[in-house]
Amino acid sequence: MRQAGRYLPEYRAVRAKAPDFLRLCYTPELAAEITLQPIRRFGLDAAILFSDILVVPDALGQRVEFREGEGPVLDRLEGTADLGRLSQQGAAARLDPILETIRRVRRDLEPGRALIGFAGAPWTVATYMIEGAGNRDFVRTKTWAYGDQAAFAALIDTLVETTVAYLISQVEAGVDALQLFDSWSGTLPDDGFARWCTDPMRRIVAGVKQRYPAVPIIGFPRGAGLNLGSYAAVTGIDAVSLDTTVPLAYARDALQPRVAVQGNLDPIALLLGGSAMASQARRILEVLGDGPFVFNLGHGVLPETPPEHVAALVSLVRAPA
Ligand code: CP3
Repeated sequence: MRQAGRYLPEYRAVRAKAPDFLRLCYTPELAAEITLQPIRRFGLDAAILFSDILVVPDALGQRVEFREGEGPVLDRLEGTADLGRLSQQGAAARLDPILETIRRVRRDLEPGRALIGFAGAPWTVATYMIEGAGNRDFVRTKTWAYGDQAAFAALIDTLVETTVAYLISQVEAGVDALQLFDSWSGTLPDDGFARWCTDPMRRIVAGVKQRYPAVPIIGFPRGAGLNLGSYAAVTGIDAVSLDTTVPLAYARDALQPRVAVQGNLDPIALLLGGSAMASQARRILEVLGDGPFVFNLGHGVLPETPPEHVAALVSLVRAPA
């Protein structure tokens, strides 16, 4: 999950040095510093690369902008003809600064701490490319996916290929594990989920593992619900990241026998802190702690979260009694 960000004063200080958010992602010195901030402050076991899932459309030549208080804005793809605007040619060069961030972090991170690289999963990245911004209903994306399956498949294929190459380059630069964020997978009917979430993820995992069979890959199909079991079984992932709504007993009985699970404290409980946070965190540890498990949130840290609550949560997880 996102563990850097606006809730940390030291993040806001570095953020102020860059003209905009994307520049920050492409400035290795600053991005490496931000990646390490939560590790220094809280002593977490793993750092997640500071970057964004939308660097991939940017690298493919689509204009991406992060506007203050508004979130991402993209020069949206309107139809098949616009696929011609995307080019995989220059993508690697454009993403190169991010690999430099990885090399710097790996150099400065203690050897015992893991560095997690990541990318967005194709469906979620496609929603931003087609909607042109954050969205709730995905009318444009679904209209395209349901109505012109061949053109939509071409977009997904481009994203699969670019993402495989990008993730392989992250492993070569020094990440220890990879996570794929499918934040909007919970919006599709089951055949759409199979076609646009599970299948592209299976191809990405196969593509990366063909080169690096041992690198652990974590999937985060947010809101997947009853599709979680088949996703965990079919994609070849090593671990699944659970959103806050996934029932713990289900994760223990149906998922942990097959894959490691990671999750899933509600970020609102972290925002609140105190005994509400402690009791929810303890329950997660009790139910999932005997199987393969990484304690995590069910989604990213909210900007209003007091950093002391994160420190309290870390001590609780390390010594739950
Ligand atoms: O610890 C980390 O910060 C890791 C790096 C990271 C970021 N984004 C940095 C970021 C990661 C792993 C992401 C993933 C990401 N980005 C996702 C998938 C995970 C999820 O949250 O569902 C998505 C959907 C995005 C796209 C995105 N980036 C949006 C919609 C926004 C605006 C919303 C917001 O919270 O401001 C961003 C901006 C963004 N990406 C911030 C950070 C720290 C906030 C930027 C800032 O205000 O300075």
